[in-house]
Amino acid sequence: MNNETMTYEYTVVRQFAIATVILGIVGMLVGVLIASQLAWPILNFDTPWLSFGRLRPLHTNAVVFGFGGSALFATSYYVVQRTCHVKLFAPKLAQFTFYGWMLVIVSAVITLPLGYTSTKEYAELEWPIDLLITVVWVSYAVVFFGTIAKRRVKHIYVANWFFGSFILTVAMLHIVNSAALPVTFLKSYSAYAGVQDAMIQWWYGHNAVGFFLTAGFLGIMYYFIPKQAERPVYSYRLSVVHFWALAFTYIWAGPHHLHYTALPDWTQSLGMAFSLILLAPSWGGMINGIMTLSGAWEKLRSDPILKFLIVSVSFYGMSTFEGPMMAIKTVNALSHYTDWTIGHVHSGALGWVAMVSIGAMYFLIPKLFNTELYSQKLVETHFWIATIGIVLYITSMWISGIMQGLMWRAINNDGTLTYSFVESVQAMHPFYIVRAGGGLLFLIGMLIMAYNVTKTIAQGKAIHAVIPEPAAAH
Ligand code: HEM
Ligand code: HEM
Repeated sequence: MNNETMTYEYTVVRQFAIATVILGIVGMLVGVLIASQLAWPILNFDTPWLSFGRLRPLHTNAVVFGFGGSALFATSYYVVQRTCHVKLFAPKLAQFTFYGWMLVIVSAVITLPLGYTSTKEYAELEWPIDLLITVVWVSYAVVFFGTIAKRRVKHIYVANWFFGSFILTVAMLHIVNSAALPVTFLKSYSAYAGVQDAMIQWWYGHNAVGFFLTAGFLGIMYYFIPKQAERPVYSYRLSVVHFWALAFTYIWAGPHHLHYTALPDWTQSLGMAFSLILLAPSWGGMINGIMTLSGAWEKLRSDPILKFLIVSVSFYGMSTFEGPMMAIKTVNALSHYTDWTIGHVHSGALGWVAMVSIGAMYFLIPKLFNTELYSQKLVETHFWIATIGIVLYITSMWISGIMQGLMWRAINNDGTLTYSFVESVQAMHPFYIVRAGGGLLFLIGMLIMAYNVTKTIAQGKAIHAVIPEPAAAH
């Protein structure tokens, strides 16, 4: 090996890891603000760019693409190098993905509050930003698959399969769903019309859940749980079956977002059937993650990072049980448009996505700075505050959502509605306060993390670890 290839490329991993913590705080701060606006509308301040309608997409973009996206870039760049025993392919292009992605996030922070939006959920950003996303994403694919191509280990570890499918599928979803006709610099019209537009949007939306919020984070699960537990994956064979079954099934389930709409009925039923099938690969994966701890369960008592990782997989199991249930048409008739959906979203988003990312960052950041975590005790505190926060968030939304659904459909003997809409809004108020409190706890946990990470970085030194020979453990 020549000198240039003797060490891993950690700079870009460090940058994305730090961005994960910062953007997590920003996105969740906006989350707490919009949760409080729903409880106390006066917090909209009668200002358009501070209103709930504009800040809500800012929250979703900041947490999903800013926080979640940074965690995925950081971990995938780290894992692909470590498991392939090579330096990152085209490190300068990798640097470009960092600055490019941050520019995307900054553009979202500016344009969304100003009211520029394509109105497609999770794809609100206008066409010039969409073009930038495409360029960054293609560069990401070149770096990732370039690294796989020059690997010095024959086998491609399963985490890379999950990361690879996430990168490829998100490229396809983004390009197809964002096709639009620009009319001015910040205004465009979708290339599709009517129900086709809705179907393409939710094919995108659901697979953004399936590949952005799930497949990529499963890549994290398959690397970081075995590492932290110091145990091999429970069943490698199951992980391969998990991969193919998940990738095949997810792509069909989008229509469950469009039950009882103008979408042809058979399409809705197909979406429902595939959503039910999806329970099997999801639970196969969850069991594989949790059982990786078999023989080392006692570590859960003393290791707070492992607590984050294992609890996240439990929430993954919970939300992938709930999702298929909500996809059943008769259940969806009650849950759709209610806070039940919001509870489901956050059991996945906070319980699974955020917890697994936080666990991975606590593992990763000390290694990137060649040191130990400043305080394990603060990680333990963070874990409990975050867990209590999630429980408050999702239980309040379940109660509020089911209550909403039941109140809306209640009818008197003479066929008139039992409750007016405003009565259902009044009934939700206490639960909105509890949700805002739960969110605030989760945010406080992130601030504790920021303190711990800052102290860890201060005591460490940025290094590029030496690449071992392929036979050695990664
Ligand atoms: C402090 C933590 C958080 C708080 C307080 C919070 C709060 C909220 C609120 C109030 C809404 C709007 C609900 C509504 O329209 O009725 C929302 C929506 C959403 N949040 Fe969060 N959130 C948090 C963290 C996260 C994280 C970490 C993620 C993703 C990784 C996330 C993803 C989403 C998504 C996808 C939606 C849209 C849901 C839908 O349209 O059905 N949130 N959040
Ligand atoms: C087997 C897996 C899953 C299935 C079958 C599923 C199914 C569903 C269903 C039926 C809805 C409600 C659609 C509606 O009434 O509008 C929904 C909403 C949602 N789910 Fe899941 N879910 C699954 C897993 C997850 C996970 C793991 C996450 C997050 C990490 C997640 C995030 C979301 C989001 C963000 C929405 C709201 C979409 C919107 O309307 O904006 N889901 N899901």
